[in-house]
Amino acid sequence: METIRVGIVGHGFMGHEHETMLYNMDGYQIIGISDIDPKQLEDVKPGIKRYQSNEELFADPEIDVVLIVANNNQHHDLVIQAARAGKDIICEKPIAMNLAELDDMVKVVEECGVKFTIHHQRRLDPDFRTMKAVYDEGSLGDVYTVKSSLYGFNGNMHDWHVYISEGGGMLFDWGVHLIDQMLWMMKGAKVTSVFADVRNVINFEVDDYFKILLRFDNGVTGEIELGTYFLTDKIQEKWFERHWIMGGNKGTAYLDGFDPVGKIVRTSHLLKNVRGTRTMTAAGPTRSFGPPAEGTILTEELPKVTTKHEDYFINYHKAYFGEEEFLVKIPETRRVLALMEAVRESAKTGNSIRFES
Ligand SMILES: NC(=O)c1ccc[n+]([C@@H]2O[C@H](COP(=O)([O-])OP(=O)(O)OC[C@H]3O[C@@H](n4cnc5c(N)ncnc54)[C@H](O)[C@@H]3O)[C@@H](O)[C@H]2O)c1
Repeated sequence: METIRVGIVGHGFMGHEHETMLYNMDGYQIIGISDIDPKQLEDVKPGIKRYQSNEELFADPEIDVVLIVANNNQHHDLVIQAARAGKDIICEKPIAMNLAELDDMVKVVEECGVKFTIHHQRRLDPDFRTMKAVYDEGSLGDVYTVKSSLYGFNGNMHDWHVYISEGGGMLFDWGVHLIDQMLWMMKGAKVTSVFADVRNVINFEVDDYFKILLRFDNGVTGEIELGTYFLTDKIQEKWFERHWIMGGNKGTAYLDGFDPVGKIVRTSHLLKNVRGTRTMTAAGPTRSFGPPAEGTILTEELPKVTTKHEDYFINYHKAYFGEEEFLVKIPETRRVLALMEAVRESAKTGNSIRFES
C-alpha cells in the first residue's frame, strides 16, 4: 500500500486525536507536527518531527498532506499557506468562519491545483448512519419529520470556544456536524426555508443553544436542537443525551445515544376514523391521543451499521489514489456554511429565510 505522508498543524485536543488515529494506520505516516504554542509539542509521539514554525512544516518536502487542526479562525490563512506550499489539505470543520473566507480559500486551492477536503467524520457516526439507513430504505413511507438533538448537561464552554473572534460557539462546534448530517441524509432535496432560534443562554459572546427548522422540497421538515445548558440531577448516569426521531406515514423510528439503541415502530392496523364514534380508554373517551388497541403495536430492529471514524481516513486514502471519491466535497461544506449564515440571519430577524428555490 502506498503511504501518504502527513503533517499536522495544531496539537491540541483534535490534533492529538489525529496523531493517535494515524500513528499506526496502514497507508499513513505522520512526518511532523507544528503548533504556535511550543508546550503543545512536548508529548509528540516518538519518530515524529516537531517544527519550530508552521512555515518549517509547509516547507518540508517529505510532507504530502497537511492536516489543519488549529482554532477555527486560523483555517483560512493556514489553508492558503498550505496550498501555496503545494500541499494537499485536510482541514478541520468548520471549513471557514464565513462564505467570503471560504471562497477566498477555494480560489487559491484551485490556482495551486492541490486536493482539499474537510474532516466531517461524523458522517460515519453509527447513530446517524442508522437513521440514514432507515431513511434510505424508505420503509417508513412518506417521511414528514426528522429530529436530531443533542443536549449537554455540563453547561460550560471553555477557552477559545467562548469568543466569537476565534470561531467559538456551538453552531461552529457541533451545529456544523448536525447540519451536515441532515443535509447529507436528505441528499438531492433542496432546503426551501430555514427558521432558527439561536441563543446565548449563559455565555456572553457565543451561542450555546439552537433550534433549527429546515423545510425540504421532498416534504420533510428537519429539526435540529442542541443545548449545552440542560441541567440534570443524574450526572453520574449521563452528561449528554443524543436522540433521533423520524416520522413517516408507515411508521416511526427512534434512536437514543451515539451507540444506537432504538426501534422502528408500526401499527398492525389503524383504528377507523368514524364520525360520531368514540374510542373508550381506561381514562375515559378519547377523540385523539388514546393508547393503541392491544396487540396493534409492532416493533422492528433498526438496521445494523458498522461505520466508524477511521473509515474517513480509509476513504481518504482510496480517494487520494483515485480509487473512489472523497467522502466530503467542498461544495457540500459550502452549502452547510451558507445554511449556518441563514440560521444566524433567521435568529437575528425572527423571520424564516428562503434558502434554495
Ligand atoms: N471533527 C471533529 O469532531 C472535531 C472535534 C474537535 C475539534 N475539531 C476542530 O479541530 C480544531 C481544533 O480544535 P481543538 O478542540 O483541538 O482545539 P484546541 O484548542 O484543543 O487545539 C488547537 C491547537 O491549535 C494551536 N494553534 C492555534 N493557532 C495555531 C496556528 N496558527 N498554527 C499552529 N497551531 C495553532 C493551539 O495552540 C492549540 O494547541 C477546530 O477547528 C475544531 O473545530 C473537530
